[in-house]
Amino acid sequence: MDGQEWTGVRGKRVILTGATGGIGLAAARQLAALGAELTIVGRSAERAEAARAAISRPVDSLLADLSSQREVRRLADEILERYARLDVLINNAGAMFGSRRVSVDGIELTWAVNHLAPFLLTTLLLERLVASAPARIITTASAAHYRARIPFEDLQAERSRWGVGFRRYGETKLANVLFTRELARRLDGTGVTANCFHPGFVGTGFNHNNGLVMRLGMLVSRLAARSPEQGAETLVWLADSPAVSSTSGGYFMDRRERRPSHAARDPAAAHALWDLSAEQVARSA
Ligand SMILES: NC(=O)c1ccc[n+]([C@@H]2O[C@H](COP(=O)([O-])OP(=O)(O)OC[C@H]3O[C@@H](n4cnc5c(N)ncnc54)[C@H](OP(=O)(O)O)[C@@H]3O)[C@@H](O)[C@H]2O)c1
Repeated sequence: MDGQEWTGVRGKRVILTGATGGIGLAAARQLAALGAELTIVGRSAERAEAARAAISRPVDSLLADLSSQREVRRLADEILERYARLDVLINNAGAMFGSRRVSVDGIELTWAVNHLAPFLLTTLLLERLVASAPARIITTASAAHYRARIPFEDLQAERSRWGVGFRRYGETKLANVLFTRELARRLDGTGVTANCFHPGFVGTGFNHNNGLVMRLGMLVSRLAARSPEQGAETLVWLADSPAVSSTSGGYFMDRRERRPSHAARDPAAAHALWDLSAEQVARSA
């Protein structure tokens, strides 16, 4: 742990993506209440302003559409320019798309937002996080990773018989777990930890972007869902608690470390995914 004890998020610089709704907004409120020096990242000025108002404590906000590598790079530059220290980076923004779309960089959109954006933002901020150690990197994964495998032969989901949707979403969430494990391996001994978690099934804006039927389905299923506040609990605990100071590479649910899928525990896949992801972001450098 690099000498210093982790004393919680009070007074620490915490960067949180996907903070304009759902789990991220609930987490932002809890982190701000704990005294974190919070920076929320949104993609719409209007929604970011509404989030700031809902947090009701002073927070910084930055804007970036994380599906664009250029915007992720600009965001990282702004963060590095503004903050000499970075204590916690939380990659929480995510989405699912019912039909195949590509980003401005020509990358399948679910992959671009859910996996490549956290990969690129984290690697661009890594040196500053290491210099600020002890520090933490947390990524919102999902139990949707359990049935997935990474389609190394078709990373762009062009040949998938099943299209995109939930299957593709699961692949990107498996990528979150593999990324976290490979990141933890690379950060060993630096005092920076990397962990990910499943928030449970949470009633948020998730999957409201895929037509009326999906939106109605999500609204009905809210009856069985956790609240965003409950969904944010493990995230906030991973950021704040001294209990996980020396845990890295973990996959958590309900504040307990869980065993991720067999595919998620494959170090060769984690390594290969890292290299391929680095290639996919190199073109925008
Ligand atoms: N809800 C669940 O049951 C559940 C279960 C497991 C995992 N998760 C994960 O939890 C995380 C948060 O999701 P949520 O359930 O809270 O959904 P949500 O209410 O839809 O929130 C998603 C957040 O991500 C942001 N976002 C999406 N695309 C973006 C982009 N291109 N650029 C910048 N920001 C973007 C959204 O911004 P806007 O406000 O601009 O849309 C919003 O702040 C995701 O990673 C999701 O995969 C959710």
